[in-house]
Amino acid sequence: MITFPPELVHLLRKAARAAVLTGAGISQESGLRTFRDAQAGLWVQYRPEELATPRAFASTPKLVWDWYAHRRRAARGAQPNAGHYALVEMEKKVPNFTLITQNVDGLHHLAGSKKILELHGNILNVRCSQCGTFADDWSEETEEVPRCKKCNGLLRPNVVWFEESLPREQLEAAVRAARNCQVFFSIGTSGVVQPAAALAHAARNEGAVVVEINADPTPLTPNVDFAFHGKSGEILPELVKTVWG
Ligand code: APR
Repeated sequence: MITFPPELVHLLRKAARAAVLTGAGISQESGLRTFRDAQAGLWVQYRPEELATPRAFASTPKLVWDWYAHRRRAARGAQPNAGHYALVEMEKKVPNFTLITQNVDGLHHLAGSKKILELHGNILNVRCSQCGTFADDWSEETEEVPRCKKCNGLLRPNVVWFEESLPREQLEAAVRAARNCQVFFSIGTSGVVQPAAALAHAARNEGAVVVEINADPTPLTPNVDFAFHGKSGEILPELVKTVWG
């Protein structure tokens, strides 16, 4: 049983505006690997930074396609965990609640969260790398990377790769939510990838209380008001229960 500081409990009980940023750590208890965990199986020899780039797709499209097909299969096989569901409950209790995620696994949608900003896209969606048309179906097990029915361009996952810019509207909405909230949560993220990592600082600069829930300390830890180091699937449900019963 975790004892939460009374000042945090009180603050959350009366909070009207909250923003939450999640990273791969919140999906770890759903069995999905985090980014900076070692890769598994045949992917162990690669680092995400080597595969999740336009250059990698241009030079080895099939390798990049196969890595995402592998991760899509994993995401499809995963279920939200207690941490995802606790955020659904929190959204019901806080009048103005925004969930900003770096995750592309779709588990927040599956859990039932409503106001979600997917900063890095969604791995379950696939679009044409040339004309941008979204594919409604494609075969996963192919010798070649599937092609767009419209222009015959190579299909690619609808995720943001390194060196690519984030979807503008989602990022602008995330910055607004961070700047306007009274409480900002940073959950399951190493806080090393920009611009997502800057959101907590933006919130703090506007006077928000910042709470970190993460398995390990991060570069953000020295700048937060409350830090809980452990599993988000354990901490979040206990926090929601303590604050809102
Ligand atoms: N509960 C809470 N935190 C956890 C758990 C857990 N069960 N398991 C792992 N963590 C923490 C780790 O301590 C780590 O700090 O989750 C964090 C995951 O960090 P990363 O693997 O760096 O993932 P993330 O922060 O989401 O990466 C950000 O980088 O590679 C890009 O686009 C990619 O969205 C990704 C971005």
